[in-house]
Amino acid sequence: MTSYPPAPEFAAQANADAALYERARADRDGFWAEQANRLHWHKPFTEVLDWTDAPVARWFGDGELNVAYNCLDRHVIDGHGDQVAIHWEGEPGDSRAITYAELLDEVCRAANTFTALGLVPGDRVAIYMPMVPEAIVTMLACARLGLTHSVVFAGFSPTALRQRVDDAEARLIVTTDGQWRRGKPAALKYAVDEALGSDPSSVEHVLVVRRVGLDVPWTEVRDLWWDETVAAASPSHEAQPFPAEHPLFILYTSGTTGKPKGILHTTGGYLTQTAYTHHNVFDHKPGHDIYWCTADIGWVTGHSYIVYGPLANRATQVVYEGTPNSPDEHRHFQIIEKYGVTIYYTAPTLIRTFMKWGRDIPDAHDLSTLRLLGSVGEPINPEAWRWYREVFGANNTPIVDTWWQTETGAIMIAPLPGVTAAKPGAAMGPLPGISAQVVDDDGTPVGSDESGLLVLDQPWPSMLRGIWNDMDRYRETYWQRFASEGWYFAGDGAKLDADGDLWILGRVDDVMNVSGHRISTAEVESALVGHPAVAEAAVVGASDETTGQGIVAFVILTGSAAAADALVSELKAAVSLEISPIARPREIHIVPELPKTRSGKIMRRLLRDVAEGRELGDTSTLVDPTVFEAIATA
Ligand code: PRX
Repeated sequence: MTSYPPAPEFAAQANADAALYERARADRDGFWAEQANRLHWHKPFTEVLDWTDAPVARWFGDGELNVAYNCLDRHVIDGHGDQVAIHWEGEPGDSRAITYAELLDEVCRAANTFTALGLVPGDRVAIYMPMVPEAIVTMLACARLGLTHSVVFAGFSPTALRQRVDDAEARLIVTTDGQWRRGKPAALKYAVDEALGSDPSSVEHVLVVRRVGLDVPWTEVRDLWWDETVAAASPSHEAQPFPAEHPLFILYTSGTTGKPKGILHTTGGYLTQTAYTHHNVFDHKPGHDIYWCTADIGWVTGHSYIVYGPLANRATQVVYEGTPNSPDEHRHFQIIEKYGVTIYYTAPTLIRTFMKWGRDIPDAHDLSTLRLLGSVGEPINPEAWRWYREVFGANNTPIVDTWWQTETGAIMIAPLPGVTAAKPGAAMGPLPGISAQVVDDDGTPVGSDESGLLVLDQPWPSMLRGIWNDMDRYRETYWQRFASEGWYFAGDGAKLDADGDLWILGRVDDVMNVSGHRISTAEVESALVGHPAVAEAAVVGASDETTGQGIVAFVILTGSAAAADALVSELKAAVSLEISPIARPREIHIVPELPKTRSGKIMRRLLRDVAEGRELGDTSTLVDPTVFEAIATA
């Protein structure tokens, strides 16, 4: 297997060297204390890790800090107020350059506004916004005040928003009138009103940023315009310190049941690890690099690698509002060229889309400023890896394939650029300070050239501290599988190759990964069964050339299917509406029966075989093996 050692020029200037592994191995706690001390602590910590209440960790437990102070004030105090923090690029072509001083100013105004609304530390704020600067301002203002934010991806439906707002009991929702989508304004505030409806909720105020100029429904007293409140508020605000374990945010993600899990992250450990990884994995140099992470703040990648890690490290970054093909497929490449992007972090699904669009598009642009490329969200196939390196990276830049999860908060497994000779498609190994193993069902480590389950066998600073409102589910989901060993079970399969390097194989549970988005089969099934025509549904993720996996549903109807084609479109639309367009099934098959075991469990493995057009696996445990004849001919 060909590997790609770093170019000597890159290695010579890299932030990380091989000694980092040694240092972390020799004294893990000391290592993490050093990383934490790259931050500003209002009150220094004396203890590093307290794991006595496992699986709930306390990191730097007696220290106190303010996240927004770390991301803004200290850079301004250090004389970097005029450095651009965000080069924001709107979808219609408008743009804004926001310096650290200006960002601090905005965040202070927002913080003063939130305080005036009566919010106090520990209160929850829901953020339902497209990629506008005010979304980042809101997150930082929450962090500054010790409010716990819950960002809900703006593509989620009113039902999904309501579910998350209720679970977190948010007192405030911050949103926009609408968002630009492929040249057209699409309503968003409207969805908030629909979510809130007339049922009582915990929400006292809805703060609305004017983005697209659409008329919006309005509820006096409850609803407020950003440009009439935040803009008028005072820009001076002193950041107060909060304990290291103060809740920073909740972010909902899909699990194996239909109910999303509110993953809880806290302050000191989270900021330590996001800043540490952003510095070392992306080799980021403040004041020199132009960094661009293409994620949306609705996902954890946006939290950790647009907001907290980069801003803590005083990055100058590009934030882009729109889709990669607005107005055409050149957009990302134009942006790279326009700003001279040096570090680019994206998802394999987009790389495969670029491959499909053809290389004459990137070749029409000067991409020579790029010096490091990153990948996240799903396994990257070696062909896409090589294409990425060749076309984006002039066959020279390191690629960091970064494995992590909403739950891990920050990157866990990745090559270190400048150190690791990376292999296309491999996440390679745990970062310094992180410990992972690949084990079999019994917890025995697998050997080289073997695959098994990925576990994290040591706590890490940015680990989740629980599931909001459901600590039992937290223990059950992540810690029960290897309870006697005390390991975190990630839900992913992994392989060690002959050299002992690690490859992520994908989820081993009922969670699908579509374009890097996690969607549970149960969520889509429940949306389908919510339609009156559907009696039963089974959903699987089938491999898909572009999106990694595509959603394939098998449904049994309540009555006789008259116009099947129309119904299939209606069902696809129903899922989009109930969850989000990202959960829209690629295919829906109407079938007379579903394959079940004697205990009544749907055999998804067999349905995946059908969906991927494979020979059927072992059907001997089925109640009625003949159902497949019916499914195959349906
Ligand atoms: O299956 C793994 C996959 O994405 C899952 C986590 O999804 P989420 O919490 O939405 O976070 C995505 C962004 C961090 C993992 O369990 N995954 C993530 N990164 C990789 C990956 N699979 C393979 N390679 C990766 N680099």
